[in-house]
Amino acid sequence: MAPSSIVGPPDAPQNARPSQSSLDTAAAAAQGEGKRAYVQRMFSDIAPRYDLLNHVLSLNIDKAWRKKALRALNWTRVPEGTYLDLCAGTLDVGAMLVKQKGFNGHVIGADFAVPMLQYGQGKAPRHRLAPVGADALALPFADASLDGAIVAFGIRNVADLDAGLREVRRVLKPEARFVILEFSTPPSRIIRAGYHAYFHHVLPLVGKLVSGHGSAYTYLPMSVAHFPTEQALADRMRGAGFQQVSFDRVSFGIAAIHVGAATTASTS
Ligand SMILES: C[S@@+](CC[C@H](N)C(=O)[O-])C[C@H]1O[C@@H](n2cnc3c(N)ncnc32)[C@H](O)[C@@H]1O
Repeated sequence: MAPSSIVGPPDAPQNARPSQSSLDTAAAAAQGEGKRAYVQRMFSDIAPRYDLLNHVLSLNIDKAWRKKALRALNWTRVPEGTYLDLCAGTLDVGAMLVKQKGFNGHVIGADFAVPMLQYGQGKAPRHRLAPVGADALALPFADASLDGAIVAFGIRNVADLDAGLREVRRVLKPEARFVILEFSTPPSRIIRAGYHAYFHHVLPLVGKLVSGHGSAYTYLPMSVAHFPTEQALADRMRGAGFQQVSFDRVSFGIAAIHVGAATTASTS
């Protein structure tokens, strides 16, 4: 494993109190533990098996989704810029961005579960992809300092969605894009039935067997079920100050890619 030279995030910021609805999701999984603490501990626990499970359980479709999400980031507008891979986990998205032909900028991979970042080290040179132990609700970056941000399968886990969206907007330069790749609920009843069976029965079983973690892969489908619909998420992005917000469903709506632009200077 890579050396643990990544500084962890400070304790939960005062503004990071989870909303009641997000607590409901976590409470069932964590039996009363706050969502922030539960999520941070859970991802730290499953870090050694995360990559394997991720690709196996998604049947490798996640790679194509990440590629599409990166295109939506429109990094070619500022190829030498600095981009944020938020809730970066084992740094797959950041590493993919760094390897894009023509990209000569930098990526910061931020996550509050430091073991996830540690297991991701080595996927790209550290001077191009810098792992940072940080909470999405209190990012250690100046206002309007980044050229774009992307979050893959992470925003659903953030204890306060609206505060998280506002925090991303704060650190983005005007016109910089924010891309969200997240699981969703397929609109077709037939697809939804198969998806439901897989997500609620196969995935928790395989996840538990391989990761050895009791609740992580039960939490996943539950957190998706509690996450806002595509339209609602687009509205929440607008509410947080993003403009030109749009979304695309991928793989029959199993996941969705939302894009917004921080078109006006941050005032927060
Ligand atoms: C499902 S993983 C996704 C990892 C990676 N983006 C990927 O595509 O595989 C979700 C990640 O979000 C991180 N996370 C959740 N809430 C966070 C927060 N408030 N601040 C920083 N990271 C957070 C977790 O620690 C975890 O590594």
